[in-house]
Amino acid sequence: MERRDFLRLSAGAGAMALLHLAGFGCSRSRSGGEGPLKLPPLPYPMDGLEPHLSRRALELHYGRHHRGYVEQANRLIAGTPYAKLTLEQIIRKTHTKGACDQEPLYDQAAQAYNHTFYWSSMQPRGGGQPGGALLELLSAAFGSYEGFHEAFRSAAAGRFGSGWIWLVLANGRLELMALGNAGSPLVHGRLPLLVCDVWEHAYYPDYQNRRADYAAAWLDHLVSWRFAEHNLGEA
Ligand code: FE2
Repeated sequence: MERRDFLRLSAGAGAMALLHLAGFGCSRSRSGGEGPLKLPPLPYPMDGLEPHLSRRALELHYGRHHRGYVEQANRLIAGTPYAKLTLEQIIRKTHTKGACDQEPLYDQAAQAYNHTFYWSSMQPRGGGQPGGALLELLSAAFGSYEGFHEAFRSAAAGRFGSGWIWLVLANGRLELMALGNAGSPLVHGRLPLLVCDVWEHAYYPDYQNRRADYAAAWLDHLVSWRFAEHNLGEA
């Protein structure tokens, strides 16, 4: 498989360039098992997000959970027409609108995509307030950066069970989407800019049941506005 095909499968078109810049690439040694879908390398060292997310947490989250989703998706597409599609195409084709239970392939493919997006939504020494167009859009949608901060933490704390907090662009305006399980803005016609994983496995090793503290640390110390700016530029 050529490098560009791997990146397309791994990340989706909107995130391609920055994932490339961040070091995402084709690595057989870190692949998600046999199959066309690959587990991209982390865009920073395993301890690169300490002290806010520990090496141990990332070893479990990336090394077991993310890897597991990629491997399961590869098993489910083996020998089917889905094996020739991108991850994004698989997500769009297998999503069942309005259904509580999604197809198993949707769940695994969306989780693989969401986790790749999540790793790039963070960076060492990230966090804080963005500038430029992003700050203007945040202020227009939430009143101020502080208003966004409060809305994000509220969405993270209020998402019952497992899910994802997405910052998305819809009709030129920023929105927060608190989607359950393997929720994806791709099937809602939204452009994803950032995502925070609020599955318990994302924060339990470091924060136990304190999801609100994790969400605050995520915004204050980890979020990559550079990644969001890149995705906004794709709009
Ligand atoms: Fe996760």
